[in-house]
Amino acid sequence: MRVGFVGWRGMVGSVLMQRMREENDFAHIEPVFFTTSNVGGKGPDVGRDVETLKDAKSIDDLKALDAIVTCQGGDYTNEIYPQLRAAGWSGYWIDAASSLRMKDDAIIILDPVNLNVIQDGLQKGVRNYVGGNCTVSLMLMALGGLFQNDMVEWATSMTYQAASGAGAQNMRELIAQMGRIHGSVADLLADPASAILDIDRKVAETIRSDDFPRQNFRNTALAGSLIPWIDVPYENGQSKEEWKGGAECNKILGKPAFRTPGSVPIDGLCVRIGAMRCHSQAMTIKLRQDVPLDEITDIIGKANDWVRVVPNDRERSERELTPAAVTGHLHVPVGRLRKLAMGGEYLTAFTVGDQLLWGAAEPLRRMLRILLQ
Ligand code: HSE
Repeated sequence: MRVGFVGWRGMVGSVLMQRMREENDFAHIEPVFFTTSNVGGKGPDVGRDVETLKDAKSIDDLKALDAIVTCQGGDYTNEIYPQLRAAGWSGYWIDAASSLRMKDDAIIILDPVNLNVIQDGLQKGVRNYVGGNCTVSLMLMALGGLFQNDMVEWATSMTYQAASGAGAQNMRELIAQMGRIHGSVADLLADPASAILDIDRKVAETIRSDDFPRQNFRNTALAGSLIPWIDVPYENGQSKEEWKGGAECNKILGKPAFRTPGSVPIDGLCVRIGAMRCHSQAMTIKLRQDVPLDEITDIIGKANDWVRVVPNDRERSERELTPAAVTGHLHVPVGRLRKLAMGGEYLTAFTVGDQLLWGAAEPLRRMLRILLQ
């Protein structure tokens, strides 16, 4: 299978290349690398000879491929994908961007949760396979067992989303903000006799000052603060990130469209916090029945090979259920599991996952493997 890669140099693309090398994926395909800026340049080191870089806008070169994997972003998809199909190309389009996600002729890929939906799509001749929104994918990796067993009447998710979801520049800016804050009070911190309220006042002044680095966060500070809005305004007061929770979850699970009969209502509030690349979320889940907690724990923990239930105790939660612990790892811990005071049908949970792995790159490389089977 001749597979083209576009956007492999960016943040998600680099994680994809790293994972594909680790899993020896390149041994099973003939990779062809594309570029928007360096045609004829040298391709990446993937452990085998590759041709020089081809033009990512050349419909003729793209048409010669059996599959295309793109991490180039939505603008590229919007420009190139329709031209390719209009030119008669019938290969597999595997995309990290959201442009085609909700289209009827696209499947959202998260195979540990919806392999049945993917296989059904392949059988029906669907050619477009799109990675889900990171928060949605990570929530389903953690709690898919409850949804797959149709135990959820409704769910809300309150998110704590990392800087990486906004982009590489935002990660850099978060660190620059942290450094600027520390620099503004370093002398006071070094003096054990300094007053904490003096330190606090200087920190607040620094964060609010005109020259605080915040170009990438729409002129808002993230370090020492948070941002209670992610992505553009959408409908009913929701941000687009919040809308995706309900819309994409139902589509991934193969349920009727969000807000139509038979779908599961999923809604919540999405918040950016100062973590690097792990998204966390606190869930409130209304179960259809009052199922005992040990049964729930069992169902959640057995749903896939990556979910890891963390017992609801203080030490384990502090050590294992944090962005710092999970960053760079494929396992998705879920903990703080308990019934809420509202009654036996009300479950709470907290989960953390690396948004560049299961939230972006991993479902794409696994889709290639499914095509090769
Ligand atoms: N939209 C997500 C975020 C990342 O801003 O965190 C991409 O799915």
